[in-house]
Amino acid sequence: MASSVTDGDGPQKEESASGVSSGSSSKAGLQRNNEDEGAVEMIRRYLAEKLGFYEDKKKEVSEGKAKVLTEASVDGVIKYIQDGNCKNVITMAGAGISTSAGIPDFRSPGSGLYHNLEKYKLPDPQAIFEIGFFQRNPQPFFTLAKELYPGSFKPTTSHYFIRLLNEKGLLRRHYTQNIDTLERVAGLPAEKIVEAHGTFHTSHCLECKQEYEIEWMKEQIFSDSVPTCEKCNGVVKPDIVFFGENLPTRFFSCNEKDFSKCDLLIILGSSLAVQPFASLIDRVPKECPRLLINREKAGQRDRLMTLLGMGSGMDFDSDDNFRDVAWLGDCDEGCQMLSDKLGWGDELSTLVKEEHARIDKEKKEEASKRKIKYPSEKKRAESKNH
Ligand code: OAD
Repeated sequence: MASSVTDGDGPQKEESASGVSSGSSSKAGLQRNNEDEGAVEMIRRYLAEKLGFYEDKKKEVSEGKAKVLTEASVDGVIKYIQDGNCKNVITMAGAGISTSAGIPDFRSPGSGLYHNLEKYKLPDPQAIFEIGFFQRNPQPFFTLAKELYPGSFKPTTSHYFIRLLNEKGLLRRHYTQNIDTLERVAGLPAEKIVEAHGTFHTSHCLECKQEYEIEWMKEQIFSDSVPTCEKCNGVVKPDIVFFGENLPTRFFSCNEKDFSKCDLLIILGSSLAVQPFASLIDRVPKECPRLLINREKAGQRDRLMTLLGMGSGMDFDSDDNFRDVAWLGDCDEGCQMLSDKLGWGDELSTLVKEEHARIDKEKKEEASKRKIKYPSEKKRAESKNH
Protein backbone atom coordinates (compact mmCIF):
# COMPACT_ATOMS: atom_id res chain seq x y z
CA MET A 1 0.00 0.00 0.00
CA ALA A 2 1.35 3.44 -0.87
CA SER A 3 2.39 5.61 2.00
CA SER A 4 0.39 8.59 0.86
CA VAL A 5 -1.95 9.59 -1.87
CA THR A 6 -0.32 11.59 -4.58
CA ASP A 7 -2.53 11.36 -7.61
CA GLY A 8 -5.03 14.06 -6.64
CA ASP A 9 -4.84 17.80 -7.05
CA GLY A 10 -6.08 18.22 -3.52
CA PRO A 11 -4.56 20.40 -0.83
CA GLN A 12 -2.25 17.57 0.21
CA LYS A 13 0.05 18.48 -2.65
CA GLU A 14 0.36 22.03 -1.44
CA GLU A 15 0.80 21.25 2.24
CA SER A 16 2.83 18.32 3.38
CA ALA A 17 1.02 15.67 5.37
CA SER A 18 2.80 16.42 8.56
CA GLY A 19 0.56 14.68 11.05
CA VAL A 20 -1.14 16.00 14.12
CA SER A 21 1.86 16.90 16.18
CA SER A 22 2.63 19.95 14.14
CA GLY A 23 0.32 22.44 15.81
CA SER A 24 -3.17 23.79 15.49
CA SER A 25 -2.58 26.01 12.51
CA SER A 26 -1.26 23.26 10.30
CA LYS A 27 -3.33 20.78 8.39
CA ALA A 28 -2.53 17.28 7.33
CA GLY A 29 -3.87 15.50 4.30
CA LEU A 30 -5.47 12.12 4.79
CA GLN A 31 -2.94 9.35 4.38
CA ARG A 32 -3.56 5.73 3.57
CA ASN A 33 -1.23 4.31 6.13
CA ASN A 34 1.09 5.39 8.85
CA GLU A 35 4.52 4.82 7.35
CA ASP A 36 5.30 8.51 6.77
CA GLU A 37 3.83 9.53 10.10
CA GLY A 38 5.69 6.75 11.85
CA ALA A 39 8.99 7.77 10.31
CA VAL A 40 8.50 11.44 11.22
CA GLU A 41 7.55 10.55 14.78
CA MET A 42 10.54 8.20 15.02
CA ILE A 43 12.99 10.85 13.85
CA ARG A 44 11.42 13.40 16.20
CA ARG A 45 11.83 11.02 19.12
CA TYR A 46 15.33 10.08 18.09
CA LEU A 47 16.45 13.69 17.92
CA ALA A 48 14.69 14.52 21.16
CA GLU A 49 16.48 11.63 22.86
CA LYS A 50 19.86 12.61 21.46
CA LEU A 51 19.28 16.20 22.54
CA GLY A 52 18.32 15.03 25.99
CA PHE A 53 14.58 15.78 25.81
CA TYR A 54 13.44 12.20 25.58
CA GLU A 55 11.73 10.99 28.72
CA ASP A 56 12.48 7.47 29.79
CA LYS A 57 9.19 5.72 30.39
CA LYS A 58 10.79 2.89 32.39
CA LYS A 59 12.49 5.37 34.69
CA GLU A 60 9.28 7.30 35.24
CA VAL A 61 7.40 4.13 36.09
CA SER A 62 10.09 2.82 38.43
CA GLU A 63 9.94 6.13 40.24
CA GLY A 64 6.21 5.66 40.57
CA LYS A 65 5.47 8.94 38.84
CA ALA A 66 3.68 7.77 35.77
CA LYS A 67 1.69 4.74 36.84
CA VAL A 68 -1.96 5.56 37.45
CA LEU A 69 -3.71 2.19 37.09
CA THR A 70 -3.49 -0.29 39.94
CA GLU A 71 -3.19 -2.91 37.20
CA ALA A 72 -3.12 -2.71 33.40
CA SER A 73 -6.41 -4.52 32.93
CA VAL A 74 -10.09 -3.75 32.40
CA ASP A 75 -10.64 -4.00 36.15
CA GLY A 76 -7.78 -1.55 36.67
CA VAL A 77 -9.49 0.89 34.31
CA ILE A 78 -12.87 0.40 36.02
CA LYS A 79 -11.33 1.09 39.44
CA TYR A 80 -9.60 4.17 38.03
CA ILE A 81 -12.95 5.53 36.79
CA GLN A 82 -14.83 4.58 39.93
CA ASP A 83 -12.22 6.27 42.13
CA GLY A 84 -13.15 9.52 40.37
CA ASN A 85 -9.79 9.84 38.66
CA CYS A 86 -11.02 10.78 35.26
CA LYS A 87 -13.18 13.59 34.02
CA ASN A 88 -11.65 14.03 30.59
CA VAL A 89 -12.24 10.80 28.77
CA ILE A 90 -11.60 10.91 25.04
CA THR A 91 -13.14 8.28 22.81
CA MET A 92 -11.74 7.52 19.37
CA ALA A 93 -13.85 5.44 17.03
CA GLY A 94 -13.67 3.66 13.72
CA ALA A 95 -15.97 1.65 11.53
CA GLY A 96 -16.09 -1.23 14.04
CA ILE A 97 -18.63 0.63 16.20
CA SER A 98 -21.08 0.66 13.32
CA THR A 99 -20.77 -2.86 11.91
CA SER A 100 -23.51 -4.18 14.19
CA ALA A 101 -25.79 -1.52 12.66
CA GLY A 102 -25.23 -3.22 9.29
CA ILE A 103 -22.54 -0.93 7.90
CA PRO A 104 -19.45 -2.84 6.77
CA ASP A 105 -16.04 -1.74 8.00
CA PHE A 106 -13.20 -1.25 5.54
CA ARG A 107 -10.50 -3.80 6.22
CA SER A 108 -12.04 -6.87 7.88
CA PRO A 109 -11.15 -9.84 5.67
CA GLY A 110 -14.19 -10.97 3.71
CA SER A 111 -16.78 -8.52 5.03
CA GLY A 112 -14.79 -5.25 4.80
CA LEU A 113 -15.77 -2.77 2.12
CA TYR A 114 -12.36 -2.85 0.47
CA HIS A 115 -12.80 -6.59 -0.18
CA ASN A 116 -16.16 -6.17 -1.85
CA LEU A 117 -15.79 -3.54 -4.52
CA GLU A 118 -15.08 -5.73 -7.56
CA LYS A 119 -18.24 -4.58 -9.33
CA TYR A 120 -16.91 -1.02 -9.40
CA LYS A 121 -13.85 -2.06 -11.40
CA LEU A 122 -11.53 0.28 -9.51
CA PRO A 123 -7.77 0.51 -10.05
CA ASP A 124 -7.53 -0.40 -6.35
CA PRO A 125 -10.22 -0.51 -3.64
CA GLN A 126 -9.24 2.71 -1.86
CA ALA A 127 -9.54 4.63 -5.15
CA ILE A 128 -13.25 4.97 -4.40
CA PHE A 129 -12.28 7.45 -1.66
CA GLU A 130 -9.46 9.19 -3.50
CA ILE A 131 -10.08 12.75 -4.59
CA GLY A 132 -8.12 12.41 -7.86
CA PHE A 133 -10.08 9.34 -8.91
CA PHE A 134 -13.36 10.95 -7.84
CA GLN A 135 -12.69 14.02 -9.98
CA ARG A 136 -12.18 11.79 -13.00
CA ASN A 137 -14.95 9.32 -12.25
CA PRO A 138 -17.46 10.17 -9.48
CA GLN A 139 -20.04 7.50 -10.39
CA PRO A 140 -18.62 4.58 -8.34
CA PHE A 141 -18.61 6.68 -5.18
CA PHE A 142 -22.25 7.73 -5.63
CA THR A 143 -23.37 4.18 -6.38
CA LEU A 144 -21.71 3.07 -3.15
CA ALA A 145 -23.09 6.09 -1.29
CA LYS A 146 -26.62 4.98 -2.14
CA GLU A 147 -25.92 1.56 -0.68
CA LEU A 148 -24.42 2.96 2.51
CA TYR A 149 -26.50 6.09 2.84
CA PRO A 150 -26.57 7.39 6.40
CA GLY A 151 -30.06 7.58 7.77
CA SER A 152 -30.86 4.01 6.89
CA PHE A 153 -29.14 2.69 10.02
CA LYS A 154 -29.61 2.86 13.79
CA PRO A 155 -26.83 3.71 16.27
CA THR A 156 -25.39 0.77 18.18
CA THR A 157 -24.88 0.05 21.87
CA SER A 158 -21.37 1.49 21.44
CA HIS A 159 -22.75 4.84 20.25
CA TYR A 160 -25.11 5.01 23.21
CA PHE A 161 -22.29 4.06 25.59
CA ILE A 162 -20.40 7.15 24.38
CA ARG A 163 -23.53 9.24 24.92
CA LEU A 164 -23.79 7.83 28.44
CA LEU A 165 -20.15 8.71 29.16
CA ASN A 166 -21.08 12.26 28.23
CA GLU A 167 -24.22 12.29 30.34
CA LYS A 168 -22.16 11.08 33.32
CA GLY A 169 -19.93 14.15 32.85
CA LEU A 170 -16.88 12.09 31.89
CA LEU A 171 -16.51 12.76 28.18
CA ARG A 172 -14.21 15.50 26.96
CA ARG A 173 -14.63 14.69 23.28
CA HIS A 174 -15.46 11.94 20.84
CA TYR A 175 -13.26 11.65 17.74
CA THR A 176 -14.71 9.58 14.97
CA GLN A 177 -13.44 8.46 11.59
CA ASN A 178 -16.95 7.46 10.63
CA ILE A 179 -19.08 9.39 8.20
CA ASP A 180 -22.31 7.62 9.04
CA THR A 181 -23.43 10.40 11.43
CA LEU A 182 -24.59 7.78 13.95
CA GLU A 183 -23.03 9.67 16.86
CA ARG A 184 -25.36 12.59 16.08
CA VAL A 185 -28.32 10.26 15.69
CA ALA A 186 -27.47 8.71 19.06
CA GLY A 187 -27.90 12.14 20.65
CA LEU A 188 -24.29 13.08 21.37
CA PRO A 189 -24.16 16.91 21.27
CA ALA A 190 -22.40 18.36 18.22
CA GLU A 191 -19.81 20.20 20.33
CA LYS A 192 -18.65 16.86 21.74
CA ILE A 193 -18.05 15.31 18.32
CA VAL A 194 -15.09 15.68 16.02
CA GLU A 195 -15.87 14.11 12.67
CA ALA A 196 -12.27 13.68 11.60
CA HIS A 197 -13.09 12.31 8.18
CA GLY A 198 -15.93 14.73 7.59
CA THR A 199 -19.63 14.13 7.28
CA PHE A 200 -22.52 13.67 4.88
CA HIS A 201 -24.32 16.47 6.68
CA THR A 202 -23.33 19.09 4.10
CA SER A 203 -21.95 18.98 0.55
CA HIS A 204 -20.11 21.41 -1.68
CA CYS A 205 -19.68 21.95 -5.40
CA LEU A 206 -16.10 21.12 -6.31
CA GLU A 207 -16.03 24.08 -8.73
CA CYS A 208 -17.88 27.08 -7.25
CA LYS A 209 -18.05 25.77 -3.62
CA GLN A 210 -21.82 26.27 -3.41
CA GLU A 211 -23.10 24.46 -0.30
CA TYR A 212 -25.94 21.93 -0.37
CA GLU A 213 -27.89 20.43 2.49
CA ILE A 214 -28.17 16.73 3.28
CA GLU A 215 -31.76 16.50 1.98
CA TRP A 216 -30.69 17.79 -1.45
CA MET A 217 -27.82 15.32 -1.62
CA LYS A 218 -30.07 12.48 -0.51
CA GLU A 219 -32.51 13.15 -3.36
CA GLN A 220 -29.66 13.22 -5.88
CA ILE A 221 -28.14 10.00 -4.60
CA PHE A 222 -31.44 8.17 -4.56
CA SER A 223 -32.32 9.34 -8.07
CA ASP A 224 -29.16 7.57 -9.26
CA SER A 225 -27.60 10.67 -10.74
CA VAL A 226 -24.17 12.19 -10.14
CA PRO A 227 -25.11 15.36 -8.24
CA THR A 228 -24.25 18.49 -10.21
CA CYS A 229 -24.33 22.09 -9.06
CA GLU A 230 -27.45 24.08 -9.85
CA LYS A 231 -25.30 27.16 -10.39
CA CYS A 232 -22.29 26.02 -12.41
CA ASN A 233 -22.90 22.36 -13.23
CA GLY A 234 -19.79 21.22 -11.30
CA VAL A 235 -19.88 17.90 -9.45
CA VAL A 236 -21.16 18.23 -5.87
CA LYS A 237 -19.40 16.08 -3.27
CA PRO A 238 -20.50 15.35 0.30
CA ASP A 239 -18.12 16.94 2.81
CA ILE A 240 -16.43 13.68 3.68
CA VAL A 241 -12.64 13.66 3.59
CA PHE A 242 -11.15 11.76 0.70
CA PHE A 243 -7.56 10.53 0.53
CA GLY A 244 -5.57 13.51 -0.68
CA GLU A 245 -7.79 16.09 1.05
CA ASN A 246 -7.22 17.95 4.28
CA LEU A 247 -9.01 17.02 7.45
CA PRO A 248 -11.51 19.56 8.82
CA THR A 249 -10.00 22.50 10.72
CA ARG A 250 -11.98 21.40 13.78
CA PHE A 251 -9.93 18.21 13.96
CA PHE A 252 -6.76 20.24 14.50
CA SER A 253 -8.17 22.94 16.74
CA CYS A 254 -9.85 20.44 19.06
CA ASN A 255 -7.05 17.90 19.33
CA GLU A 256 -4.62 20.64 20.23
CA LYS A 257 -6.80 21.51 23.25
CA ASP A 258 -8.08 18.08 24.17
CA PHE A 259 -5.31 15.53 24.17
CA SER A 260 -3.00 17.08 26.73
CA LYS A 261 -5.97 17.06 29.16
CA CYS A 262 -7.01 13.49 28.46
CA ASP A 263 -7.07 11.23 31.52
CA LEU A 264 -8.46 8.12 29.82
CA LEU A 265 -8.40 7.26 26.14
CA ILE A 266 -10.87 4.68 24.86
CA ILE A 267 -10.38 3.48 21.29
CA LEU A 268 -13.25 1.56 19.77
CA GLY A 269 -13.54 -0.40 16.53
CA SER A 270 -10.60 0.90 14.55
CA SER A 271 -7.61 -0.71 12.88
CA LEU A 272 -5.75 2.59 13.51
CA ALA A 273 -4.37 2.26 10.00
CA VAL A 274 -5.08 5.75 8.67
CA GLN A 275 -3.19 8.92 9.48
CA PRO A 276 -3.25 11.45 10.96
CA PHE A 277 -6.11 10.04 13.07
CA ALA A 278 -4.13 7.00 14.25
CA SER A 279 -1.31 9.05 15.74
CA LEU A 280 -3.70 10.79 18.14
CA ILE A 281 -3.14 7.88 20.51
CA ASP A 282 0.36 9.27 21.15
CA ARG A 283 -0.85 12.74 21.99
CA VAL A 284 -2.22 11.88 25.44
CA PRO A 285 -0.01 12.43 28.52
CA LYS A 286 2.47 9.60 29.00
CA GLU A 287 0.75 8.29 32.12
CA CYS A 288 -2.74 8.35 30.57
CA PRO A 289 -4.37 4.89 30.43
CA ARG A 290 -5.45 3.73 26.98
CA LEU A 291 -8.15 1.11 26.53
CA LEU A 292 -8.71 -0.53 23.15
CA ILE A 293 -12.03 -2.25 22.54
CA ASN A 294 -11.74 -4.06 19.25
CA ARG A 295 -11.86 -7.48 17.63
CA GLU A 296 -8.09 -7.39 17.20
CA LYS A 297 -5.12 -5.56 18.66
CA ALA A 298 -4.37 -2.31 16.84
CA GLY A 299 -2.03 0.65 16.99
CA GLN A 300 0.90 -1.28 18.42
CA ARG A 301 4.46 0.00 18.25
CA ASP A 302 6.14 -0.96 15.05
CA ARG A 303 9.15 -3.27 15.16
CA LEU A 304 11.70 -0.63 14.21
CA MET A 305 10.59 1.70 16.96
CA THR A 306 10.63 -1.11 19.47
CA LEU A 307 14.17 -2.01 18.40
CA LEU A 308 15.18 1.61 18.85
CA GLY A 309 13.53 1.61 22.25
CA MET A 310 11.14 4.35 21.20
CA GLY A 311 7.73 4.17 22.78
CA SER A 312 5.25 5.20 20.18
CA GLY A 313 1.94 3.42 19.71
CA MET A 314 0.16 0.96 21.99
CA ASP A 315 2.19 -1.36 24.15
CA PHE A 316 -0.06 -4.17 25.34
CA ASP A 317 2.39 -6.99 25.72
CA SER A 318 5.72 -5.79 27.07
CA ASP A 319 6.77 -6.14 30.70
CA ASP A 320 6.99 -2.35 30.88
CA ASN A 321 3.35 -1.85 30.06
CA PHE A 322 1.56 -0.02 32.82
CA ARG A 323 -1.32 1.70 31.03
CA ASP A 324 -2.41 0.03 27.77
CA VAL A 325 -5.28 -2.44 27.90
CA ALA A 326 -6.78 -4.42 25.02
CA TRP A 327 -10.24 -5.89 25.43
CA LEU A 328 -10.73 -8.09 22.40
CA GLY A 329 -14.22 -8.78 21.14
CA ASP A 330 -17.26 -6.97 19.77
CA CYS A 331 -17.52 -3.29 20.64
CA ASP A 332 -21.13 -3.52 21.75
CA GLU A 333 -20.32 -6.36 24.13
CA GLY A 334 -17.28 -4.49 25.40
CA CYS A 335 -19.31 -1.35 26.03
CA GLN A 336 -22.06 -3.30 27.76
CA MET A 337 -19.44 -5.09 29.87
CA LEU A 338 -17.85 -1.78 30.90
CA SER A 339 -21.25 -0.31 31.72
CA ASP A 340 -22.20 -3.36 33.78
CA LYS A 341 -18.99 -3.10 35.77
CA LEU A 342 -19.56 0.63 36.27
CA GLY A 343 -23.13 -0.01 37.43
CA TRP A 344 -24.73 1.60 34.38
CA GLY A 345 -25.58 -1.62 32.55
CA ASP A 346 -29.38 -1.37 32.84
CA GLU A 347 -29.31 2.30 31.99
CA LEU A 348 -27.43 1.54 28.78
CA SER A 349 -29.65 -1.30 27.64
CA THR A 350 -32.81 0.69 28.39
CA LEU A 351 -31.43 3.69 26.50
CA VAL A 352 -30.70 1.52 23.45
CA LYS A 353 -34.16 -0.05 23.52
CA GLU A 354 -36.01 3.24 23.93
CA GLU A 355 -33.98 5.11 21.33
CA HIS A 356 -34.33 2.33 18.76
CA ALA A 357 -38.10 2.31 19.26
CA ARG A 358 -38.21 6.08 18.83
CA ILE A 359 -36.12 5.95 15.63
CA ASP A 360 -38.25 3.13 14.18
CA LYS A 361 -41.37 5.18 14.81
CA GLU A 362 -39.89 8.28 13.21
CA LYS A 363 -38.74 6.31 10.18
CA LYS A 364 -42.20 4.89 9.67
CA GLU A 365 -43.71 8.36 9.79
CA GLU A 366 -41.08 9.71 7.40
CA ALA A 367 -41.62 6.83 4.98
CA SER A 368 -45.33 7.46 4.80
CA LYS A 369 -44.69 11.18 4.23
CA ARG A 370 -42.25 10.32 1.39
CA LYS A 371 -44.83 8.08 -0.22
CA ILE A 372 -47.17 11.05 -0.47
CA LYS A 373 -44.42 13.41 -1.69
CA TYR A 374 -42.81 10.99 -4.14
CA PRO A 375 -45.54 8.69 -5.52
CA SER A 376 -43.03 7.32 -8.07
CA GLU A 377 -41.04 5.86 -5.15
CA LYS A 378 -44.20 4.21 -3.93
CA LYS A 379 -44.81 2.66 -7.35
CA ARG A 380 -41.20 1.46 -7.55
CA ALA A 381 -41.48 -0.10 -4.11
CA GLU A 382 -44.75 -1.80 -5.04
CA SER A 383 -43.41 -3.23 -8.30
CA LYS A 384 -40.34 -4.50 -6.42
CA ASN A 385 -42.63 -6.39 -4.04
CA HIS A 386 -44.55 -8.09 -6.87
P1 OAD B 1 -11.10 -0.58 9.51
O1 OAD B 1 -11.98 -1.42 8.66
O2 OAD B 1 -9.75 -0.31 9.04
O3 OAD B 1 -10.97 -1.23 10.96
C1 OAD B 1 -12.11 -1.63 11.68
C2 OAD B 1 -11.63 -2.37 12.92
O4 OAD B 1 -12.75 -2.67 13.70
C3 OAD B 1 -10.92 -3.67 12.63
O5 OAD B 1 -9.82 -3.80 13.48
C4 OAD B 1 -11.98 -4.73 12.92
O6 OAD B 1 -11.44 -5.94 13.39
C5 OAD B 1 -12.76 -4.06 14.01
N1 OAD B 1 -14.18 -4.43 14.10
C6 OAD B 1 -15.08 -4.58 13.10
N2 OAD B 1 -16.30 -4.80 13.61
C7 OAD B 1 -16.18 -4.82 14.95
C8 OAD B 1 -17.07 -5.00 16.04
N3 OAD B 1 -18.36 -5.19 15.86
N4 OAD B 1 -16.56 -4.94 17.29
C9 OAD B 1 -15.24 -4.73 17.49
N5 OAD B 1 -14.34 -4.54 16.51
C10 OAD B 1 -14.80 -4.57 15.26
O7 OAD B 1 -11.90 0.77 9.80
P2 OAD B 1 -11.33 2.14 10.38
O8 OAD B 1 -10.27 1.92 11.35
O9 OAD B 1 -12.51 2.95 10.77
O10 OAD B 1 -11.36 6.47 5.59
O11 OAD B 1 -10.71 2.76 9.05
C11 OAD B 1 -10.19 4.06 9.07
C12 OAD B 1 -10.42 4.77 7.77
O12 OAD B 1 -10.02 3.92 6.68
C13 OAD B 1 -11.85 5.06 7.48
O13 OAD B 1 -12.31 6.25 8.08
C14 OAD B 1 -11.87 5.19 5.97
C15 OAD B 1 -10.95 4.06 5.60
O14 OAD B 1 -10.25 4.25 4.42
C16 OAD B 1 -11.80 7.02 4.45
O15 OAD B 1 -12.53 6.45 3.69
C17 OAD B 1 -11.33 8.37 4.17
